[in-house]
Amino acid sequence: MHHLITTAIDYTNGSPHIGHAYEKVLTDAISRWRVLRGELGLRFMTGVDQHGQKVQQSAQRQGLAPSEYVAQITQQFIDLWKLLGVDYDIWAATTDPCHVKCVQDILQKLWDEGHFYKAKQTGHYSVRQEQFVTDKERLPDGTFGAEWGEVVEIEEENYYFKLAAHRDWLLALIDKREREGRPFVLPAFRNAELRNAVEKMTGDLCISRPKSRLEWGIEIPFDRDYVTYVWFDALTNYISFAGYDPAVGCTGDFAELWPAVHVIGKDILVPPHGIYWPVMLHACGFTDEQMPTLLVHGWWNIAGEKMSKSLGNIVDPVELANTYGVDATRYYLLADIATGRDADFSNDRLVTRYNSELANSLGNLLNRTLNRAKRYRESILRKPATSPLVEYVTQKCTEFAMRMDAYEVHLAIEAANAIAARANAYVEETAPWKLAKDEASTEKLDEVLYSLAETLRILSVLMDSIIPQAATAMRGQLAWDADLAWSTTAWGGLPDNHRLADPIPVFPRIEFSSEP
Ligand code: MSP
Repeated sequence: MHHLITTAIDYTNGSPHIGHAYEKVLTDAISRWRVLRGELGLRFMTGVDQHGQKVQQSAQRQGLAPSEYVAQITQQFIDLWKLLGVDYDIWAATTDPCHVKCVQDILQKLWDEGHFYKAKQTGHYSVRQEQFVTDKERLPDGTFGAEWGEVVEIEEENYYFKLAAHRDWLLALIDKREREGRPFVLPAFRNAELRNAVEKMTGDLCISRPKSRLEWGIEIPFDRDYVTYVWFDALTNYISFAGYDPAVGCTGDFAELWPAVHVIGKDILVPPHGIYWPVMLHACGFTDEQMPTLLVHGWWNIAGEKMSKSLGNIVDPVELANTYGVDATRYYLLADIATGRDADFSNDRLVTRYNSELANSLGNLLNRTLNRAKRYRESILRKPATSPLVEYVTQKCTEFAMRMDAYEVHLAIEAANAIAARANAYVEETAPWKLAKDEASTEKLDEVLYSLAETLRILSVLMDSIIPQAATAMRGQLAWDADLAWSTTAWGGLPDNHRLADPIPVFPRIEFSSEP
């Protein structure tokens, strides 16, 4: 059993956007769900990737020390997670001295065991940008663009990790995991993509940068003239912040948490998480059983285009939450994308889905139920022997669980929405306003009111992973404050003579659909 779920750590070279927000909200929903299911030892880890050339350059441009610059950006991420109710347990910030020590210990151990070598490489170097440029940066005519200034060929010595030596092991791992029905990569369709890349992989991984070129990084312990570059710094956060110590390996508290599920975007599957990471773990002595699982999500685009500073189409999640509310924002980000696939972000769809599925359906169900219970029964429920809704609600709860367990959050939400729709139809069918006028229908009316309130109670448990703030407000109005657990989704949780609270709309309609 995995008891650690992580997100990618976000680069601190710019402000958070909805892509970052989606990944954290997705992981938060999954993690809340698994705790509800009874996995009380689950830990949710997220954080920030603070080192590197881009950070050093951004800091320089703003006339700040890199540490000051990353502190500012890091705070933006922390504030956003608080705003969105992203309730993580472990914060991984790569400038943390404990992380630095762990990375250095790993590097030293792998160096001692012969996993690295030093080699000279020639390449094209932009003097102006102070970085190497690759063929990818060439213009169609073969030259480098003006932004690179003078590009010269230089020779540089660096350290390399013997990656290619692990190729066959990695292929065997991917196949074995697939055979065992627990694919290394989820959704499973991405396994083929990874497998192809591994088959084609050649060459080793450069893991260093001379300090003369990059200072803002973790010093290589066996050569103080270098810092480690990107992946040995970033990927190792997943184990360093879970308490891994290379001197003792995968034991103790760390072994309780490990292996993890890593929630990442499709852009960082190949090569970092799909190739470098398992190979790094393998070199460190992790067994096949101790290899993590990768849950790979797709991207939020804008009208089919990538979000980017240059296109000026970046959607700010803070503005979104302030305009439409936290629940609407979380709901949209989880409901309008199929896990693993891309989706197009649209304000109109956010507003439309919120208004129809939350305001008109779930919210209306809550309001009409509480209002009628208040009007006809002074908010007191009588518990009937059974209800016509039991079977449907139970079946959809099971479906919700199955979908959440399979990380198909959007389909889980559909199952919950079907419950609300069924209950609203039941109101129309039974017409409580008519029952209230008829003495002979007293029992029937009690049955209807209880059935509706009970359905709402169960929905408030299911929706707790998706929209925790609204779900809490729903429970407040239902005056039900038991500890949440999967067992509480069983029908009949509201006792006889239960008194509901007064209705206050939880999902007010959004009456405009302008750009935020
Ligand atoms: N720092 C690296 C990850 C290191 S993990 C050891 C990184 N950072 S990032 O800030 O660029 O991206 C963080 C996460 O956000 C990644 O998983 C990435 O896929 C995700 N997203 C970035 N833009 C996105 C969208 N437009 N849509 C959805 N997720 C996207 O990569």
